[in-house]
Amino acid sequence: MRVLLIAPPGAGKGTQGALIATHFGSPHIATGDLLRDHVARGTELGRSVQDHLAQGELVPDDIVLEMVRAAIVEAKAGGNGYVLDGMPRNLAQARALYEIALGLDMTANVALHLKADDEELSRRLLARAALEGRSDDTEEVIRRRLAIYHEVTHPIVEWYGARGILVSVDAVRPIERVARQILTALEAMRPLVDLVPEHARRSIDLTGLGAAFGKN
Ligand code: AP5
Repeated sequence: MRVLLIAPPGAGKGTQGALIATHFGSPHIATGDLLRDHVARGTELGRSVQDHLAQGELVPDDIVLEMVRAAIVEAKAGGNGYVLDGMPRNLAQARALYEIALGLDMTANVALHLKADDEELSRRLLARAALEGRSDDTEEVIRRRLAIYHEVTHPIVEWYGARGILVSVDAVRPIERVARQILTALEAMRPLVDLVPEHARRSIDLTGLGAAFGKN
C-alpha cells in the first residue's frame, strides 16, 4: 500500500504512521523526523532549517520535495509501498508530489485524514513536551503550527477528496482503536487499489463509525 497522512500536529501521524508501516512492512517516511535528524547531526541542511522548525514554520518546499523524492525512489526499490507522514503540507507540495510519484509510478493509493479538534491536539502536544521536550512543543509554537495547518494544509484534504483517494478517520479515540479502524479499512481496500482507476474511486468517511470500532 502507498499511504499518505494528512493531519494537524498531534493528531497521530507519527503514531499511526509507524503502526501502518509495520503492518504492511513499508518504509515510514516522516519528513519531520528526517528534518529533525539533520538538525541533530548539524548538517548544512539541518542548519538551514532549524529556525523554521523551532518557530513552527514550514521549511521551503524544494528542500522537503527533494528529500521525499529520494525516499520514494528507495521505497520503490524495496517494493512494499510507503507510508508518507508530514508531506504534503500545502497545495504546491501536493501537486509537486503527485508529479514526482507519477514519474516513478508510485502515486498514493490512499490519503488518510486524521481528524481531531485543536483543544485535544494542544493537550497532547503539551503532554508530550513534558516528556520529550521537542523544541516546537511550546504553547506559542503549537498555536502557530495549528494556524498553519488550518490555513495552508487542511485545504488539500479537498484536493484528495476530488481525486477519490481520501479516507477520513476520527482520531480522538484511544490509539489502538484508531489503529484498528485504519488497518481494517486499508486491508479491505488493499485488493482493489491497483485495480480501480482513480477516476472511478470515491472518498470514504469513517468518522461516524466510531461505535463499531469502540468509541472510547
Ligand atoms: P512534523 O514532525 O510533521 O510535526 P507535526 O505535523 O507538528 O506533527 P507532530 O509530530 O507533532 O504530531 P503527529 O501528528 O505526528 O502526532 P504524534 O503521533 O507524534 O513536522 C515538524 C516540523 O517540520 C514542521 O513544523 C515544519 O517546520 C517541518 N516540516 C515537516 N514536514 C514538512 C513539509 N512537508 N513541508 C515543510 N515543512 C515541514 O502524536 C503526538 C502526541 O500525541 C504523542 O505524544 C502521542 O503519543 C499522542 N497521541 C497520538 N495519538 C493519540 C491518541 N489517539 N490519543 C491520545 N494521545 C495520542
